[in-house]
Formats: sequence, structure tokens, C-alpha cells
Amino acid sequence: MIIVQITDTHIKPPGRLAYRRVDTAPFLERAVAAVLALTPRPDVILATGDLVDAGHAEEYERLLGLLRPLDIPLFAVPGNHDERAGLARAFPDLAARVGDSSFFHYTVEDWPVRLIAMDTVLPGSGAGEVCAERLGWLDARLAEQPERPTIVFQHHPPFATGIGHMDRLGLSGADAMADVVRRHPQVERVLCGHLHRPIQVRWAGTIASTAPSTAHQVALDLRDDAPSAFVMEPPGYQIHMWRADTGVVSHTAVIGDYDGPYPFFMDGKLID
Ligand SMILES: [Fe+2]
Ligand SMILES: [Fe+2]
Repeated sequence: MIIVQITDTHIKPPGRLAYRRVDTAPFLERAVAAVLALTPRPDVILATGDLVDAGHAEEYERLLGLLRPLDIPLFAVPGNHDERAGLARAFPDLAARVGDSSFFHYTVEDWPVRLIAMDTVLPGSGAGEVCAERLGWLDARLAEQPERPTIVFQHHPPFATGIGHMDRLGLSGADAMADVVRRHPQVERVLCGHLHRPIQVRWAGTIASTAPSTAHQVALDLRDDAPSAFVMEPPGYQIHMWRADTGVVSHTAVIGDYDGPYPFFMDGKLID
């Protein structure tokens, strides 16, 4: 099973730049082309939030247009820049999975790895929250299938990264979430967005991680008083490959045109 994770696409209305600088739509276009060029073809795509920049309907419309070439099932969760209602209108099949819950969470049962979408949105805030109700839901879902490899995906990471200004937009309830996840060792990963960088940590008996944005990256600055800033490092996405013999193996892919591939060997010999 090959799972692609894209995140923090931050789509704006046509003609508008994110932070007056980043034309996020062509970045997503290039990410979609990169994913479509993958062989073997991914089975699913996870989109871990901040899909649009301000939750506007016209942004979701533009997002759908950009995602249209992807004939691969896509499962999204909201980020702090999204609007639950807008996301639900844009993805009616996901809204059907959510049902009448006030949180945009659901499970995906159709592949060998079970996928659990968590909603970490705290409306009106850049920070996230997992409240008692959401954690109760997660605990109950995880208790249903204790033997099945499972990936939880959400926007806000439940761990501190060392990038001060981002950690201050943290996830309230993260410790309580750790208590839940620790009880369910079938959780292979907690895949997150929000950080616009690839970061991994051992957390609650599993691996929690964030992925690069398809557009702008958060500046790598580990000072507690790091200024809130982004850089135009190469954009990227992640591939989480699952096989019965390896479990989940995660790759970070950069997007762009680079020289190569060049061979290491010629006529059966390492090129000297
Ligand atoms: Fe973001
Ligand atoms: Fe975010």
C-alpha cells in the first residue's frame, strides 16, 4: 500500500498570493504532476490540512480544479486555515464519512492499513485542540481493531519541534492524546502537517511526524524566539509505503527538475 501525503497547499483565490509572495496554485499543480508520475501508482493520498488559505468557497473551488487530474482517492483533514463547512462542501464523500459529527473525523477501512482522520481545529485560532470528545472517539475507533496496522493523520502535530513560534501554536490536549495512543500499539504513525517541514519524533510508543508543504516551508530556526518566517526551499511531499514485511517506511520527496538519474555502474563495474 502506497500512501502519499501532501500538506499545507494554502490555495488562494485567483490573482492572490499567500503572504503577498507565494503563488501557491502552480506549486500544487507541480505536486500533482509529481504524484501522477510515480510508479507504482499510489493507492491513496492524505491531505493534512491548510488546504486553502482562508477557508473561502472560491479557494475550495480552485483547490478542486487543481486536484482534478488526481484519479487517486484523497482523504483530507482540516487545518487552522480551513473551514470545516467549506471542506465538507468541497469533499461530499468525506462529509458522508463524517456523518452528523460536529468534528471532521472519520475512518478509512478499504486498504490493508487503516486510516483514521483526526480533526484538530480550534475555530478562530492558529493553534489546535483535541478535546475529550475527540479523544474519546479516537480511543473507541482504535479499540475496534487492535490488530490492524493503523495510521492516524491530522493537521497539528502533538509534539514540540523546537521552532518557537510554531510550538506556541501547539496542540492543546496533546498529552491526553499521547495517553490514548500509547494504549494502542497498532498505531504505526501519527502523520501531521502545519509545520511546513519534515520532522519526526518518537512519541507515545509510535512515530509522529510532519511533512513539507507543497509550496512554502517554515524557516528552520530552532531558537525559542525565532521570528515567524517562511523560506522558498524546495517544496515536497511524503510517501509512506506499507508492506507486511517492512511495516510503514516513510520517504520525503522534493518537487522540481533536477539533473539525473545517472547510473552508478557501467558494464557491470562501479564508475570510477
Ligand atoms: Fe500551513
Ligand atoms: Fe496550519
